[in-house]
Parts: sequence; C-alpha cells; structure tokens
Amino acid sequence: MQGETTVLDRSDIQGFVLRGYRMPHAAYLFYRFTDVPAARAWLAGMADPVTTAEEWDAAPSWCANVALAHPGLEALGLPTESLESFPADFREGMAARAAEHLGDVGDDLPDNWEPEPPFATRGVHAMLMLSAHDEGELDQRVQAFRERAGAGLEEVGCEGAAALGGAHAEREHFSFRDGISQPVLRGSGLEKDAPPGRPPVKPGEFLLGHPDEQDAVCQLHPAILGHNGTYAVYRKLSQDVPAFRRFLHEQGRGDPGLLAAKLMGRWPSGAPLARADRADDPVLASCAKHNNAFDYADDRLGYRCPRGAHVRRAHPRNGLPSERRHLLIRRGLPYGPELGDGAPDDGADRGLVGVFLNASIERQYEFVQREWINAPRFDDLENDPDPISGPGGGNFTWQGRPPRRLKGLPRFVTVRGGEYFFVPSITALRFLGDTSAP
Ligand code: HEM
Repeated sequence: MQGETTVLDRSDIQGFVLRGYRMPHAAYLFYRFTDVPAARAWLAGMADPVTTAEEWDAAPSWCANVALAHPGLEALGLPTESLESFPADFREGMAARAAEHLGDVGDDLPDNWEPEPPFATRGVHAMLMLSAHDEGELDQRVQAFRERAGAGLEEVGCEGAAALGGAHAEREHFSFRDGISQPVLRGSGLEKDAPPGRPPVKPGEFLLGHPDEQDAVCQLHPAILGHNGTYAVYRKLSQDVPAFRRFLHEQGRGDPGLLAAKLMGRWPSGAPLARADRADDPVLASCAKHNNAFDYADDRLGYRCPRGAHVRRAHPRNGLPSERRHLLIRRGLPYGPELGDGAPDDGADRGLVGVFLNASIERQYEFVQREWINAPRFDDLENDPDPISGPGGGNFTWQGRPPRRLKGLPRFVTVRGGEYFFVPSITALRFLGDTSAP
C-alpha cells in the first residue's frame, strides 16, 4: 500500500548502498579464497569494520565495504540450495553475459579485458572497497586490511581511484560533474533528499527482502542471506580523453562546449540541458534539489536535451511506471592521471571505476547497458548508440531546426574488466562467516 513503508534498519545495510561517501580516495582489493575456514573467519571478522548506513555524528576518516562474487560463495561451501537461490545473472557473472545480455561488442568483450584481476576467467571471489579522506590514510588502511586478510586469501588484483582536481570535486575525466542523479529509497530516512517530482522508490528496487515497485520481494535461501543485501556491478571503463577532445574541436563548429553538453545532456557544472539549454548555469547546478528536478515531458522532440544524450538514454524520465524499474545507484571514482586542459596525448590509461547498485542485475544494469546505452536503436533513433559510453561507430542526432547528424562517432569508452558482486547485509556477513555452519 502506498503509505506503508518499513523503516529500513540502516545498521544492517552496508553504508555505500544508501549514501555516497564523498571521499576522494579509494582502493578496490580483489581476493581469491585459498582456505575455507580462514576465509569464513575473515568474513565474520569484517562484520565490525564494515561501514554501515547508520547516520554519522561526524564523518569517519575511512570506510570499508565487502562484496562477494558467486564463485566466492561456491568456494565457501554454501549448500546447493543457497547457491541456486541466486538469480542466473549473478551466478553466471559478467564475462559470460557480456555479449548477449550487456550487448558488449568488439574491444569491450572479455577476450580483450586486462588479465588482472582475473575477471574474464572468474578468478575473483571477493572485493574489498576502501575509501578515505586522504591518501596517507588510505595507504595505511590498505596495509592493515592486507595483514588482516592473512593466509586464507590471495590478493589477485588491486585498483586505485581518486577524485580529480581536489578533495570535493566530483568530475570525471571528460570534465563533467558526476554523481548528481541518484535514486532515493523509501524508508531510508533520506527521503528529504529526493528532488521535487521525483519521489523515492520502494526499497526492493535496491534491497533484497523488501517490496519493489511491483510489490514483489526478492528472497534468497535462507532469507537471512538476502535480506538487506544488494548487487554491485563493478565495471572498469577506460576513457579516451584525447579522442573525445579532438572530436569536440573537429565537430563543434566553434563551440566545442555546446557539443559536449549535447552529447552528455548536462553541462560540465552539472546543470541539465532540460533546464538550461543555451548556456551553462552554475547557479542552477549548485542547487542540489532543482538541479535534478526535471523531466523531458516539455522537450519530447529533444530540442533542448537531445533524445540520444547520455543522461537521457540512461534515465529517460518519461513518467512511465516502467521507468522506475530500471534505476541504478552509481558509486565509484575516476582512475588514472588527469589530462590537463590542452595537454597533449600522454598515452596514459584513465577512466572510471564504475560501481552500479541494483536488486536485479538483469532488469536494471543489464537492461540499461544493452537497451539504452549499447543499442543503436533507441526511441526513434536508428543508428545512434550512446555517444559517451556506447561502442562507437554510430551516429549522434542533434535535434533542432535544422537537425544535425554527426556520423561515425569514435569510441570514447572501453570496458577493461568487471564482475557481478553480492553485497551482503551485516547479519548475512556474520552468517556467511559462521565457521560452525555446514
Ligand atoms: C566512462 C563512462 C561514463 C561516463 C564518463 C559517465 C558520465 C556521466 C555523467 C557526467 C553523468 C551526469 C551526472 C549525473 O546525472 O549524476 C551521468 C549520468 C548517468 N549515467 Fe553515466 N557515465 C558513464 C557510463 C555509464 C554507464 C555504463 C551507465 C549504465 C549502464 C551509466 C548510467 C548513468 C545514469 C543512470 C545516469 C543518471 C541519469 C539521470 O538520472 O538523469 N553511465 N553519467
């Protein structure tokens, strides 16, 4: 029923599910379990240091979170009934589903991924995410958690990430502010953060064991394993910044900034084209609520925000109930060195460590990636995949009078690896770590 919502137990939910930490440094450590009792003990021991979603009096100086891939749950020796209670998307993992379910093509496919961590061969069992306010603190925590991991876990990869341009900047490498539009959950206590006209969603869209927008409840076996848990899609996305800038200058007809905004659907400050289509509007951008209080109902043709722009494809805001079934909470940070304005191509690898949260990988992340980002057909566009994060090679249509069609866009973003992880609740961490369990 509309008015009834359970108040979520924030002390049982891993913190990054409900809020972005806004910490500028992060490390993602990937493990393979080599000794089952030691791995279980490690998990049980993580229940305390793991950061929960409880309200902070003062922000801590670091945060830690843990997630498990299906091969990790198998290695822990979970009973078949439990292992099979996970949906096929998570059981099969990202590499097996890349071509068919994510619509990945060419360089995005697992054969071309980086060898470490061994995502393509499903050699990753667990992910430890550490965040900190300063680099020294992060290094210390990484060291301390490495010692804690001990002999039962082999580290098979580590990814570092850091905010560009200062502690509280939230820019990604193409120079746009990121992390503005995030769904808010009913019952989370954070409903006041929802922008006008964009009401909070039922918690089951992101948390197992709770009703979703259709009042269905995802359960695992036993129920304690799933309750208050979610899935994290980890995706390392390399960004070709020199190619992006070159394209803007060659095709921007003297106004590369406007072309960039049309491709993204927001200006670098974060102001949405739906509300500011002529010029960037940093004042609008600085108002957290209004900057996200819009839809495309009065811009159906895409004259303000092109229908194929990244933010419009990734979240069409069309007011249909189905729209609320494909939402994503986005976490993560840039990796690699920033390329200064006007600096020549330095050949360095840089991009985004993307961590996307959802209760159904198939209905949410995979759907958005396949149908809205990678698919050349979208809305009534024929050969226009996402111009920012799509596979390249297609067109970009700039609706207007007259319309402009930019043909054969280069690929700007390439997948370097990724995996599907289960993010257990604190209770489930203890349950998984119980060494006396069969
Ligand atoms: C390197 C690749 C990517 C870059 C540089 C990028 C950048 C951005 C930026 C700058 C925004 C606007 C800020 C905001 O609304 O919070 C945004 C929004 C968004 N992106 Fe991406 N993105 C990338 C890949 C992806 C992928 C792979 C997905 C999902 C499959 C995705 C889903 C979204 C969603 C859902 C939004 C929010 C749209 C809204 O609610 O209006 N992005 N992205």
